[in-house]
Amino acid sequence: MKIGIGNDHSAVEMKKEISAYLQAKGYEIINYGTDSTESYPYPKAAAAVAHAVVDKEVDCGILICGTGIGIGIAANKVKGIRCATCSEPYSAKLSKMHNNSNILSFGARVVGIELAKMIVDSWLEAEFEEGRHARRVKMIEEIENNEGLMNK
Ligand code: RB5
Repeated sequence: MKIGIGNDHSAVEMKKEISAYLQAKGYEIINYGTDSTESYPYPKAAAAVAHAVVDKEVDCGILICGTGIGIGIAANKVKGIRCATCSEPYSAKLSKMHNNSNILSFGARVVGIELAKMIVDSWLEAEFEEGRHARRVKMIEEIENNEGLMNK
């Protein structure tokens, strides 16, 4: 599996540690983030990873900024992206099972490295459940496409 990873200046070390952790497990990691601690705007990393996901350059994405929030909000502006910002493994797992999240984000200033590893493991190991959840994800796409969900 090919994973696109992106980060701002606040998450350089966390990005490197998570990348090495996932590479050791056999995942292919493509780095779209900064490797410098000079100020770097998180929307740039979010856009790079989000477009790589929708263009199928990678299978999914991981985004890390200080809180995981800004980078997640930015990624969700790209059509087709369902980015889940998670600070614990349960939400990460459910975001895949129920929401078919295609990007995971979290905060390097919020979670420590061991918790971050648990979050990415539970997200990557979970599978979308389809069924009623597929209908709900389709409704999200209808909102995204302005297809008049409010009238249904
Ligand atoms: C950068 O200082 C910080 O604002 C950013 O990493 C992130 O937390 C934004 O949501």
